Amino acid sequence: MNAANPIGVFDSGVGGLSVLHEIRRSLPGEDLLYVADSGHAPYGDKSQQFIESRSIAISEFLVSRNAKALVVACNTATGAAVTTLRSRFMMPIIAMEPAVKPASEQTKSGVIGVLATSRTLAGDNFVRLFARYGEDVEILGQACPGLVEQVEAGDLSGDKTRLLLQRYVLPLLEQKADTIVLGCTHYPFLAPLIREIAGPGVAVIDSAAAVARQLSRRLEVGGLLADAADAGTECFWTSGALDKAKPLFSQLWNADVEVRPLPD
Ligand code: SIN
Repeated sequence: MNAANPIGVFDSGVGGLSVLHEIRRSLPGEDLLYVADSGHAPYGDKSQQFIESRSIAISEFLVSRNAKALVVACNTATGAAVTTLRSRFMMPIIAMEPAVKPASEQTKSGVIGVLATSRTLAGDNFVRLFARYGEDVEILGQACPGLVEQVEAGDLSGDKTRLLLQRYVLPLLEQKADTIVLGCTHYPFLAPLIREIAGPGVAVIDSAAAVARQLSRRLEVGGLLADAADAGTECFWTSGALDKAKPLFSQLWNADVEVRPLPD
């Protein structure tokens, strides 16, 4: 493993770009490879076996491109596949965890809401978080069907997206939640609209910055940090439609980027 090698990051689609932004902010010298499995998004309604086999295939692709570490920038893939990935790939593998701990420390009302896919909310990870922090605070899990699709379509603020968010966020506010955890990496792109709907008294938090910090620590401990003097590069692949990917990636990455087809 070589410190000059790139970091591989993947998600069911473009949501993991919210994590990639934080990685780029904390590790400016790293070369980053990103795979969006948009041809198979959302993962939330797929079987564990399917998500596991996609996660293995994408990780193999990233390893074939010399990735020195993997970031599973998808809460659903984390729940379904990270144990298998860690047993197959001998390298640092960083995965998502909904920000329930910081939320439970900062809530004043004692009620926090977690927006996620139903698969994430039913998974072992979340059940463990619920058992750990659910005695001190009330944790309301809210499944959000349809939201991933809105982000994949680049619709971050249209009427349909707003209606869906009102349907998911307002019941949390009625139950006195003052802190909303974004438990899916697609949702940070909807954070401005969520904040507008929730109002100024509600904190909206996600775990992308914590994942970037953890990645940085793991690379440092392993002597794998790239030289920060040189600006890192990004390469993007998708399993989805290429004509839609370029404008969508450019919108979410805030720059004009090239997107390549993910080989079968
Ligand atoms: C999905 O693809 O259904 C959601 C991705 C995530 O959980 O981050």
